[in-house]
Amino acid sequence: MQKLFSGIKPTGTLHLGNYFGAMRQFVELAPRYDCMFMVADYHSINSLRDPGELRAGIIDIAAAYVAIGIDPAQSIIFKQSDVPEHTELTWVFNSLVSVSFLMQAHAYKDAVANGKEANMGLFDYPMLMAADILLYDTDIVPVGKDQQQHVEYAREAAAKFNNTFGDTFKEPKEHILETVAVVPGTDGRKMSKSYGNTIPLFGTKDEIAKAVMSIVTDSKAESPENVYAIHSLFRSKDDLSIIYTENKGKYKALKESLIEDIEAFAAPMREVREAITDEDVRNILREGGERARAIASKKMAEVRTKLGVTI
Ligand code: AMP
Ligand code: TRP
Repeated sequence: MQKLFSGIKPTGTLHLGNYFGAMRQFVELAPRYDCMFMVADYHSINSLRDPGELRAGIIDIAAAYVAIGIDPAQSIIFKQSDVPEHTELTWVFNSLVSVSFLMQAHAYKDAVANGKEANMGLFDYPMLMAADILLYDTDIVPVGKDQQQHVEYAREAAAKFNNTFGDTFKEPKEHILETVAVVPGTDGRKMSKSYGNTIPLFGTKDEIAKAVMSIVTDSKAESPENVYAIHSLFRSKDDLSIIYTENKGKYKALKESLIEDIEAFAAPMREVREAITDEDVRNILREGGERARAIASKKMAEVRTKLGVTI
C-alpha cells in the first residue's frame, strides 16, 4: 500500500479552511493508504510561547483527527516531539541545503516583508517538514495549497541526500484538492487564524452563527459573494442557485441558511469530539508515537550509516 503523511500545527482553533483544504482529504484517502497523521508541535514553537496553550492545542489536534473519522487503530496518530529522529534528520538536511535556497521560502519571505524578525525555527521550517515526510517513505502528502512549496522543499532535500549518499529517500508528492485549494474567510481573504477571519470547525452553534454573521457582504452585488463562496463548500451549484434566487438581496436570510448548513455538518463531529477525553488522546499519542518511532529509527540508522557517523 502507498504511504500517506500529513500534519497540522497545534496553534489556534481549527477552522473550515483546515477541514476543506486538508482534513477532508485525510478521511477520504485514509482507507486506500497506509496513513500517518502528525501533530506538528515542534513546528509551532517558532510562534507559540505559552506551554498551557500548546498542551491544549496538541490535545485538540489529536482529538480532531479522531473526530473527523480517522481510526487510530488503522492510521498512526502521533506527535512530532515524541520522535526525536525528526529533529535529528533536520540537522542533516540543514547541512546539505543552502541558505539562499531556504531564503526563497514563502513563509520566510512573508515574515521579512512584514517586518517580522524571523527566528531560525521559522527559517528552517521547511527542513523540519522535509524530515517529517521523508522519514516514512511517504508517497503522498495531502495539504492545502499554501503547503505546496514545503512539499517541493522536501523533494529537494530528498534529492540532495540521495545524490550525495545514494538512494535513501522517496520523493513525495503533494495532494491538493484544486477545487478548494484556498478556502475564503469571512472577509474574502484566505481563511486563516492570523487574519481573524475564521469559522471554527468544532465551534458551538452560537460561535458559528457569530462568525457567519460577521461575513463581509458586498452591498452592491445582490448575491453576497463571500457568503456564497463559503456556502458552496456545503451545497451544489444547483441547490445554491435556488436558495440565492429565492433570497435575492436578503443577506440575513442567506446567512441564516448558511448557519444551518454548517451546523448540520459540524454537529456530529462536535459530538464525537466532546466524547474524547484527554486520557484517550494521551493513549492514542503514546501508542502512535511508539509505532512511528519504530519506523523512523530504522530510517535514521540507515542515514547515520550512509553519512559515516556509525563506525
Ligand atoms: P495549519 O493550521 O497552518 O497547520 O494548516 C493545516 C492545513 O490546513 C494545511 O494543510 C493548510 O494548507 C490547510 N489550510 C489552512 N487554511 C486553509 C485555507 N484557508 N484554505 C485551504 N487550506 C487551508
Ligand atoms: N506545515 C504544515 C502547516 O502549517 C504542517 C506540517 C508540518 C505538515 N509537518 C508536515 C504537513 C508534514 C504535511 C506534512 O499546515
